[in-house]
Amino acid sequence: MSKAFTIFGGTGDLTFRKLLPALYNGSISGAESEDYQIIIIGRREYTTEQYCALAREWVQKFARLPYSDRAFGRFASRIAYYRMDFSDPAAYQELNDYFSAHGIEEFIFYLAVAPRFFGLIAENLASVSGASRGKVILEKPFGETLEAAKDLNRRLETIFSPDQIYRIDHYLGKEMVRNIETIRFSNPIFTNLWDARFIESVQISALEDVGVESRGGYYDEAGAMKDMVQNHLFQILSIVAMERPSDYIGSDMHAEQLKVLHALRPVGQEPIKDTLVLGQYEGYRQEKLVGAHSQTDTYAALRLFIDNDRWRGAPFYIRTGKKLGEREMNVVVTFRRPRPDVAHNVLVIRIQPTEGVYLQFNIQKPGDTTDITQAKMDFCQSCLLENRINTPEAYERLIGACIRGEHFWFSQWDQIETGWEYVEQLRTAYREAGLPLVSYPTGSSGPVQADRLLERFGHAWFKT
Ligand code: BG6
Repeated sequence: MSKAFTIFGGTGDLTFRKLLPALYNGSISGAESEDYQIIIIGRREYTTEQYCALAREWVQKFARLPYSDRAFGRFASRIAYYRMDFSDPAAYQELNDYFSAHGIEEFIFYLAVAPRFFGLIAENLASVSGASRGKVILEKPFGETLEAAKDLNRRLETIFSPDQIYRIDHYLGKEMVRNIETIRFSNPIFTNLWDARFIESVQISALEDVGVESRGGYYDEAGAMKDMVQNHLFQILSIVAMERPSDYIGSDMHAEQLKVLHALRPVGQEPIKDTLVLGQYEGYRQEKLVGAHSQTDTYAALRLFIDNDRWRGAPFYIRTGKKLGEREMNVVVTFRRPRPDVAHNVLVIRIQPTEGVYLQFNIQKPGDTTDITQAKMDFCQSCLLENRINTPEAYERLIGACIRGEHFWFSQWDQIETGWEYVEQLRTAYREAGLPLVSYPTGSSGPVQADRLLERFGHAWFKT
């Protein structure tokens, strides 16, 4: 029996930058995906040879494992390019015939297309025999509005049962995001201090130096709040803040994460100007496929509270933005000081580009003195030689997890819905309060208003 990993949107950015390199890495490291034929579906007129020539360039640029002609040749022998207009229902009968002719009976479909096509593709797959027993992986956003997302969900579930649907959030596949639970729950020095009595604030930053690149059409509809906050950053927030799940790999963890999202202080209880800053980088409106008067946010900074016993009184600061001076993603936990004359203890979980943990604490200055200074211990996990070679990238992990049926690596619908509702309420409150979309220079650290948001409450964005 043959198995196929079929990608709809096979000539798009995501396939070239992430999926093909991940599958190539998997073919070298002997991952489960190696057993699958790779069927690339696109509208363009390519032969398989022409497509593989393109794929080679992207793999050379983006694959984690070394490129060699031999390894690529082996990988490419599993690829077939299949030209198809996936909005045409009649084309699915031919696709069905193609799968039958190749003896394919086990399916994974990866929908790397705009969300408006998800429902259409899924419904048409009903006419491909055996497809409804397969699995479907969806890229975010899961719809263009909350209503559209709910509708899409209903359409998907007429074909696939919930356990066949995998909603990918690639941040859940990142090495140090998975590590947050271990750091929190396997170390009494952190486990026992992990609440607002000891923690003054938490910051989660996802800063990017790139702009919207070729994705202006999608991004201009989404913006930073929907593109990053509602999914990736809320996932991280809820892992940092959740109660200890009874097991880390099952539905219990999702239930705990969901409780955190439900405990977010309702929008409207704090003045919105003390909660949210939205910005747009200078020159964004001149980007390809972006509206000349676009009001889309490319930067967001938030001050949130989780109203439960563990976190009451400790703000969570979140920020994300494009075209900033650096690329950096981390979680900064600032502990309360015993006295105002000493520095805070700070734990930084570095997610990217460096993966590791930074810890800052007070010690006596060397020498014959009682002065205090800070010890700064910086552990770089990704610098270890064996990790450079062995640590799989997020998409490799998640493709493997889907093949093994490990749902806990994926977003659940109720998390998405809750995050989405909250983000929409915030954006509405911002708009109704007449707050401006502030502009910031490219290459900067973001709008000054985001710095002031923290300064007003005696805090500052942490710099390591
Ligand atoms: C994607 C967003 O989900 O994540 C992009 O749509 C963003 O806009 C990207 O650039 C960031 O991912 P990473 O892995 O580079 O941090």
